[in-house]
Amino acid sequence: MIHEVIVTTISKDSQVHIAPMGIKIIDNQVIISPFRPSKTLENITENRIATINFIDDVRVFAGIVTKYKKDWELEDSKDKTIVPRLVLANTHYNVIAKNFKDDERRPNIVCDVSKKEFNKPFMGFNRAQFSVIEASVLVSRLKMLPIEKILLEIEYLKIGIDKTAGKRESEAWKWIEDKIQEFQKVNIN
Ligand SMILES: Cc1cc2nc3c(=O)[nH]c(=O)nc-3n(C[C@H](O)[C@H](O)[C@H](O)COP(=O)(O)O)c2cc1C
Repeated sequence: MIHEVIVTTISKDSQVHIAPMGIKIIDNQVIISPFRPSKTLENITENRIATINFIDDVRVFAGIVTKYKKDWELEDSKDKTIVPRLVLANTHYNVIAKNFKDDERRPNIVCDVSKKEFNKPFMGFNRAQFSVIEASVLVSRLKMLPIEKILLEIEYLKIGIDKTAGKRESEAWKWIEDKIQEFQKVNIN
C-alpha cells in the first residue's frame, strides 16, 4: 500500500524542503522512494532525518506541484535533531534513515520511526480530496504524459470536486486548472 504524504526534510543551510511523496509503511519502518534528481533525496543523504506529514489539507499537494504556494507553515521546534512538521499535519512521524537501497532512477530509503504524534483528527474520506491528489500527480507529470490523457482524466476527477469539495479543495483545484492552462499556453500552439 502506498500512502500519499508530505515529506519535510532539511538542508545543510537549515532550509526546510516540502515535497509530496508516496511512501510505504512496513511495521515500524517507512520507505521513501524519490526519483532522481531530488532535493528530498539530497537532504536525507546529507543528514539522515525526515518528517512524514499525514495530512488531509490537499492544498499542500497542489500548492507544491503547481508551485503556486510553496511556503506552508512549519511547527516551531528548538530540537535540531528533527525536521519540523507542517502545522496542518493531522499526524506526523519523525524518521531516521537506516538503509539506502540505491538505484539510478529511484532509490529506496528505509527509515526507522523515532516518534509518532497525533495532532488533529482525521475527519473521514472525501472524494474531492482524492481528485486533488490524483490531479496533483498528473500535474507533476505534465511534461511526461500526453496532454489529451491529462485533460480526459481531469474531466473525470472534476466530478468529485463538483459534488463534494469544500473551500480548501476548491482552492487547490483552481491551482491545478490554472497550471494546466499555463502549461498548454507555453507548450501547445
Ligand atoms: C501524490 C503525489 C505523490 C508523489 N510521490 C512521489 C514519489 O514517491 N517520489 C518522487 O520522487 N516524487 C513524487 N511525487 C512528485 C514530487 O512531489 C515532485 O516531483 C517533487 O518535486 C519531488 O522532488 P524534490 O524531492 O526535488 O522536491 C509525487 C507527487 C504527488 C502529487
